[in-house]
Amino acid sequence: MGRFSGHVVVVFGGASGIGEAVVRAIVREGGRVVIADLQDERGAQLVAELSAVSGVSDAALFHRTDVTCEDDVAAAIEQAEAAFGPLTGIVNSAGIVGVIGPIADTPVEAFDRTMAILARGVFLGIKHAARAMEASGTRGAIVSLASTAGVLGGQGPHTYTMAKHGVVGLTRSVASELSPLGIRVNAVAPGGTVTPMTASLTGGDVQLLTEFLTAGSPLGIACLAEDVANGILFLLSDEARFITGHTLVIDAGITTSLLQTTFHQRSE
Ligand SMILES: NC(=O)c1ccc[n+]([C@@H]2O[C@H](COP(=O)([O-])OP(=O)(O)OC[C@H]3O[C@@H](n4cnc5c(N)ncnc54)[C@H](O)[C@@H]3O)[C@@H](O)[C@H]2O)c1
Repeated sequence: MGRFSGHVVVVFGGASGIGEAVVRAIVREGGRVVIADLQDERGAQLVAELSAVSGVSDAALFHRTDVTCEDDVAAAIEQAEAAFGPLTGIVNSAGIVGVIGPIADTPVEAFDRTMAILARGVFLGIKHAARAMEASGTRGAIVSLASTAGVLGGQGPHTYTMAKHGVVGLTRSVASELSPLGIRVNAVAPGGTVTPMTASLTGGDVQLLTEFLTAGSPLGIACLAEDVANGILFLLSDEARFITGHTLVIDAGITTSLLQTTFHQRSE
């Protein structure tokens, strides 16, 4: 019996990066997962790999989903319930960096597209998870990906920062509505993490990205997708049964101090 035995979780954006690490961890711990993503080929590969590794043929399944499309999001959750039983959790991990550059030069179409994936997508995931959990009477858990850009300025592009602040706000707001139903709503706020999304910023050079993140990390280590997945699994699990409306910052302490203070420096 694993920690996630009996759990049924839809991971939006589960074909890559942080979402993929969550999918792998849930299956490893005995849960059932729907990978809801745009990447059909990667999703199918992951399903095949997971059934081989876990020895359970239906540990995971793929549902092609565009998180900006309400019908797709609802259908992914319906498929999870039809295949595995009542939904116990979702993770909103679909994402892109989105539009970058000065505010004065930001095209409104690019702003809308970025907000659709990072904010509307999270709204739709939470809306349909809440419906499903309320209908089945399940005391489920919802976890969304915010970012350190969701708790401070200057940690990401403008539109990304706005969307991630929105994720933190919606998490708090919906948590207060759903608490009486026993449904918990939380977020995680990672700093820079080694994934295909951030590797796109170094032209796909993972080693360069890792060195860059290591150099900027107060703990002297780069954040891996698994480090973020560990926080997400905790919030999904029964161990977090008393935690809701919370945003768990996972950033090696970067946001705890705006300035590198000299007060704590070690003397040789
Ligand atoms: N990597 C980081 O440094 C970092 C830091 C903080 C927060 N985050 C957030 O974590 C989440 C996951 O990011 P990641 O780094 O793992 O990225 P990633 O690119 O590795 O994975 C994102 C996944 O989302 C999917 N996706 C994109 N648009 C979609 C859509 N419209 N519908 C369905 N799926 C879609 C992609 O196909 C991909 O599989 C994002 O919300 C991101 O903003 C990442």
